[in-house]
Amino acid sequence: MLIGKPADIRYSEITPRATYLRRREFLQAASVAAVGTAAALVPSLPAVAEAQVQGPGVLPKLPNVKTSALSTTEKQSAYADFSTYNNFYEFGTDKASPAINAKRFRTRPWKIAIEGHVAKPAAFDFDEFVKPYALEERIYRHRCVETWAAVVPWIGIPMADIVKRVEPTSKAKFIEFVTLFDPAQMPGQRDEILQWPYIEGLRLDEAMNPLTILAVGMYGEVLPNQDGAPIRLVVPWKYGFKGGKSLVKIRFVESMPRSTWMIKEPPAYGFYANVNPMVDHPRWSQTRERRLGEFLPRRTTMFNGYADQVAKLYAGMDLRRNY
Ligand code: MTE
Repeated sequence: MLIGKPADIRYSEITPRATYLRRREFLQAASVAAVGTAAALVPSLPAVAEAQVQGPGVLPKLPNVKTSALSTTEKQSAYADFSTYNNFYEFGTDKASPAINAKRFRTRPWKIAIEGHVAKPAAFDFDEFVKPYALEERIYRHRCVETWAAVVPWIGIPMADIVKRVEPTSKAKFIEFVTLFDPAQMPGQRDEILQWPYIEGLRLDEAMNPLTILAVGMYGEVLPNQDGAPIRLVVPWKYGFKGGKSLVKIRFVESMPRSTWMIKEPPAYGFYANVNPMVDHPRWSQTRERRLGEFLPRRTTMFNGYADQVAKLYAGMDLRRNY
């Protein structure tokens, strides 16, 4: 995300792998049509299996999922594009690595703990944790600060349902989302590229907004490992990095948590991280975005188009300072 790569390639300029493969197929077909032979105009195609596309149709389906009026009807991004173009630094810093390196990541048994200022703190086995909740499909716009974007049919649990069940006390002002620390399984954690474990945070009212979910699936199935299995945060009006993956602790705290990206590069990453075309990242303009699988950029909208539901959370705040 922000690590200075040797060639200083902007991630926003990197084509999703599946699109790249399709484009190469297109170029190869075009070159065949033009000269009647593939004749070395285009290098030979890599095996498509390299794209590491797992589904849909491969992972277990999630039954009894309700639809939601909060879903967008916009065209969904292709699973192959979204699931092979990831930020998950525990499994490598380039976009293609998580789909490859997380293949054997073990997501069972999995423990998740509720801690801090709540009446009912507890540690759960993951499957027991999700049992009491109804799953909903939420088709959301997803936007990364690096300017790529997508439309994703997530499946998840409204975070407000979880918060109500664990009964926060009056001291709970923020929630800290802590993800797995397991360097034996996560090769990226053997380097100090980020402070581990990866941490994200929300204000309690942001977490309780009806749009905030903990996702356990996408495209009708359980989450593929590279997208944060077995459970991750999804906050559609914020940049993608707010979506901590592979959560193991949800801590109700009194003071604002310091998230991983705030620690890594404070001038670039604030606590709020609302999608905001008025506030540029030091390396990426935030006025435009490009959806995976599309070539033409789109204009980025305030709160990623969710202003009606969330602008009230920030009434009176200067969002240039609270970026
Ligand atoms: N969660 C963990 N544990 N580790 C990470 O590196 N990257 C974040 C976020 N959650 C990250 C993470 C960033 S920078 C982004 S943009 C989103 O995950 C990407 O989610 P996606 O790969 O499902 O699109």
